[in-house]
Amino acid sequence: MLQRVKDAVTVPVAVKLSPFYSSLAEMAPLLDKAGADALVLFNRFLQPDIDAEELAVVPRVTLSSQLEGRLPRMCIALLRGRIRAALAATSGVETPDDVAAYLLAGADVVMTASALLRHGPGHAAVLLDGLNTWMRRKGFQTIDQFRGMLAVPAGTDGEAYERTSYVSAMRAANAGAYETY
Ligand SMILES: Cc1cc2nc3c(=O)[nH]c(=O)nc-3n(C[C@H](O)[C@H](O)[C@H](O)COP(=O)(O)O)c2cc1C
Repeated sequence: MLQRVKDAVTVPVAVKLSPFYSSLAEMAPLLDKAGADALVLFNRFLQPDIDAEELAVVPRVTLSSQLEGRLPRMCIALLRGRIRAALAATSGVETPDDVAAYLLAGADVVMTASALLRHGPGHAAVLLDGLNTWMRRKGFQTIDQFRGMLAVPAGTDGEAYERTSYVSAMRAANAGAYETY
């Protein structure tokens, strides 16, 4: 489908991905080879719910929370340097630190929707000003100086990396260092 779209248009084509592929590590390079100019991680599906009192299915639009940035951020960190397509981040951008974190993971662009609906369009300036302040504090003059700084280094065995992170996280949790919300 992507190849047919690419053949039919002259504008760049970005593919907004679902987080629910059985193997993103397989799918992303396939889309890359098929000519995707960018991958957008991730689409966020509206999830209808069941109202047990009314015995009815109710459509729901829930704005995202900051925590939802973790999965796309991890995937961007894993894909950075492994595909040619640009990487666009979407989900859970609420504060300037969220923008910085996505850029550190290796995002080429960072997008936000829920935060603008929550705080109004002026929040875009809060994010940009905050990012500038953070960059000054960290001694960065340009975004390219830190983009992808915390990506999974090319050549790293992804599975081993995830396994090690899992083991360290579980060790910390066993020692009582887990987060609660
Ligand atoms: C009210 C609303 C409408 C949206 N409409 C679209 C849409 O038409 N196409 C699309 O790709 N994403 C749409 N999105 C998803 C957002 O672009 C974005 O990917 C998602 O909300 C995650 O980012 P966020 O955490 O900054 O909200 C919509 C989101 C909301 C909240």
